[in-house]
Amino acid sequence: MNPIKPYPQSPLRSVPESIARPEYVGKRAPKPYAGSDIQTPEIVEKMREAGRIAHLAILEGASIIAPGVTTDEIDARIHKFICDNGGYPSTLGYRGYPKSCCTSINEVICHGIPDARPLEDGDLVSIDVTVFKNGVHGDNCMTFGCGTLDQASTDLMNRTKEAMERGIKAIKPGRQLNVIGRVIEAYANRFGYGIVRDYTGHGVNTSFHSGLIILHYDQPLVDTVIKEGMTFTVEPMLTLGDYRSHVWGDDWTVVTNDLSRCAQWEQTIYVTSEGAEILTAP
Ligand code: MF3
Ligand code: CO
Ligand code: CO
Repeated sequence: MNPIKPYPQSPLRSVPESIARPEYVGKRAPKPYAGSDIQTPEIVEKMREAGRIAHLAILEGASIIAPGVTTDEIDARIHKFICDNGGYPSTLGYRGYPKSCCTSINEVICHGIPDARPLEDGDLVSIDVTVFKNGVHGDNCMTFGCGTLDQASTDLMNRTKEAMERGIKAIKPGRQLNVIGRVIEAYANRFGYGIVRDYTGHGVNTSFHSGLIILHYDQPLVDTVIKEGMTFTVEPMLTLGDYRSHVWGDDWTVVTNDLSRCAQWEQTIYVTSEGAEILTAP
C-alpha cells in the first residue's frame, strides 16, 4: 500500500444563511468554555438531536465508500445531509479547518482533510462528523473498510470499536475519569496495538471542546470524579504499530510516524445515575 499523500481540495462549501453558526466561525480560535462540566436535561435533549444527525450523516457519507470515490465526494454528501437537517458542520471554519468532516485513511490517525484522493480497494476509512444545532454539538466517528480489507485492518477496526464500548461501559458516577483509559489500554494491550496519546476525548456541550480531557491510556493522575450530567466523548485511536505521530504541513493531517494503520471510533456520551447514555445514536 502506498503512503497517503495530499490531493487538491475543493472550494469551501456554503451553508444556508438560515442555519446558525457556532461563535468561532470566522475567528482564529473558539472562546474558551467557562461553564460547568455538568449539563441540564434541556441541553442534553438538544445534544441528542445534534448527535443523531452526526451519526446519520456518517452513515450517509459511508454509504458511497467504494474504490474510485473521493473523500471530497463523501464530504459533499455529509455537508448536504447536515444542512438539510438544519445543522451546521462544526468542523467547517473551526480554527480554519476547511471541510465538513474528517476523513482519515490508513496511517492517518485523525483530522484528515477530505480531498480529491480516490479511495483504493483495501483502504481503512475513518469518518468523524460533528454537528452544531440548537446551540450544542454532537461528535461521532466510525471506521469502515473500502472494498476488501485485510484481516489485520479488519481486526483493528472491530477491536477499536470494542475498546470504545468497554471504555463507555466503565463510566459510572463516583468513579474517576482514569477508569476509561485503564480499560481501553488493558484491552488494546492484548493485541499489541499502539494507543494514541497526543489526541484525546473531550468535554462537549455548547462548546466543541470544553476543556475536560479524556485519556485513552491508563493515567491514574487523572483523578477527576465522574459526575451525573457530564457530557464528553470517548474516541480511542488504536494503531497496528507505534502510537507516535506527526502532523503534515497542512497543520491538520495527523499520521503515525511508522506509517502503521490506525482506526478510530467515537461517541458523545451523557453520564446518567446508572452509567452512560450514548447521544450519537440513531
Ligand atoms: N471531531 C474531532 C474530535 O473528535 C475534531 C475535529 S476538529 C477539526 O474532536 F478541525 F479537525 F475538524
Ligand atoms: Co471528539
Ligand atoms: Co470527532
